[in-house]
Amino acid sequence: MSSSVEGQVVLVTGAGRGIGAAAARILAERGAAVGVLDISSELAGETAGSIEKAGGKAMAITADVSDRQAMLDAAAVLHEKFGPLTAVVNDAIWIRYEPVESVTEETLDRMLAVGLKGTFWGVQALLAHRGDKPASIVNIASPVADLGTANTASYTSIKGAIAALTRQLAVELGPQGIRVNAVTPGAVPTPGARAIVDEAGYAKRRAQTPLGRLGAEEEIAAGIAFLIGGDASFITGEILHVDGGITVKSM
Ligand SMILES: NC(=O)c1ccc[n+]([C@@H]2O[C@H](COP(=O)([O-])OP(=O)(O)OC[C@H]3O[C@@H](n4cnc5c(N)ncnc54)[C@H](O)[C@@H]3O)[C@@H](O)[C@H]2O)c1
Repeated sequence: MSSSVEGQVVLVTGAGRGIGAAAARILAERGAAVGVLDISSELAGETAGSIEKAGGKAMAITADVSDRQAMLDAAAVLHEKFGPLTAVVNDAIWIRYEPVESVTEETLDRMLAVGLKGTFWGVQALLAHRGDKPASIVNIASPVADLGTANTASYTSIKGAIAALTRQLAVELGPQGIRVNAVTPGAVPTPGARAIVDEAGYAKRRAQTPLGRLGAEEEIAAGIAFLIGGDASFITGEILHVDGGITVKSM
């Protein structure tokens, strides 16, 4: 297997902006053909367009990750255009931070549908449209899955489940030649994160991060690309923390 992602066909969800967009760009720069999937056709088109402009291979796909059939259809069109899928990055998220007593059924259902069910459908999309090459899955966890954080009960439950699912699927899918890993990003001021974290929150996160700064989308994307590439060919069931050390600091 090549050490790079050259020649791979990767479906990236939530790839219209933020960490997903950075992952799509880095994978394409390194020679993968990328399915840029987002619920926003405008954002998916922007990311795919910028990749193509830079000489990379990309296809914009508009789909809601919580819709199982839409995800299977997305993988089918990507397969048709670039060949069998070799990897999926399950990045899309929809978040509300609120005290546990305020969580409504409607909010929790939507968060679970996008964050957790969407990850299942991403996995199934890869399984339905992979060829006979080794394949891989990268899920996106979060430091909240390792540490208690106030007002994030719904999000924490989902990210904890994703970490558990990653280890579980590594065992279930390993015999089929599929590696399953996750990346845990530290604090990255993406458009989505900026909508729920204010400046005071970022000051706190900087202070809590041993490296003393926030992360860049590209730094998380590099971790994702590493796990998909051949240099990670014996790595599975791993939760890779790309977090400036925020998860290992106690005080
Ligand atoms: N930014 C951080 O600090 C941080 C930290 C830890 C974990 N994460 C995780 O990283 C991942 C990416 O986060 P981000 O900060 O880049 O988010 P973001 O909100 O900036 O981007 C998310 C993208 O997902 C898309 N999306 C939302 N719902 C969708 C759906 N139903 N179907 C398809 N696409 C959908 C959005 O349109 C958007 O383009 C998430 O899984 C998040 O939980 C982020």
